[in-house]
Amino acid sequence: MRTPIIAGNWKMFTVVEEAKALVLALKDLVKDVTNVEVVVCPPFISLLAVKDVLAGSRIGLGAQNVYWEKNGAFTGEISAPMLKSVGCTYVIIGHSERRTYFGETDETVNKRVFAALSEGLKPIVCVGETLEERESGQTFDVIKRQIVGGLANLSVEQMASVVIAYEPVWAIGTGKTATPAQAQEVHAFIRKLLNDIFGQTTAEATRIQYGGSVKPDNATELMSQPDIDGALVGGASLKADSFEKIIKF
Ligand code: PGA
Repeated sequence: MRTPIIAGNWKMFTVVEEAKALVLALKDLVKDVTNVEVVVCPPFISLLAVKDVLAGSRIGLGAQNVYWEKNGAFTGEISAPMLKSVGCTYVIIGHSERRTYFGETDETVNKRVFAALSEGLKPIVCVGETLEERESGQTFDVIKRQIVGGLANLSVEQMASVVIAYEPVWAIGTGKTATPAQAQEVHAFIRKLLNDIFGQTTAEATRIQYGGSVKPDNATELMSQPDIDGALVGGASLKADSFEKIIKF
């Protein structure tokens, strides 16, 4: 059985004091949750402070990006050893906002995945089609290209640490969620791809999150689909009570 994983992607929201307050409230609200893995992904500058607040809780810590070199003259970048040193266990890679605004490609996603894995960080690899791609019937081609490229050359052992997030770009931050059937269709397709690349055991074990306007009132229906194993939540993870409701779907 796959344990659902619900991660909050805070994006570029919260200054340090707000981040601490948010996670302090969340920690208390979800202290009894054991059947779902919960992760928060604050901005880099708050990771250390959030880590301290999280002490003694089951909530995991993740970053929103990672550079593929360990160190060097790369002004403004953050490496996997750095993330590990502040207590991260997860890192989001290839989010559509990074693909759209910061030139992320499947090739750079792949480099970041290897960098994360080499430090023992678990990548949350995001894939998803734009509205234009969906409407022109390219959804499966796009997802296949992103999965094959982003996960290229990974071993079965490495794949055991990877979480995938299917986030249709047209559903992110728009209030337009994919219907449970639309999401399930793509999740099943991703699992089939994983089966072709890594074999059945890996395909069945890999957790595939849905992301894109997940809210307390649609979480249950989405998460009850057979191939949806949790959620990557943006907006609704910035309020402790709405994130709590999603976690307790
Ligand atoms: P949203 O963002 O929940 O605000 O749509 C999801 C995401 O970008 O991960």
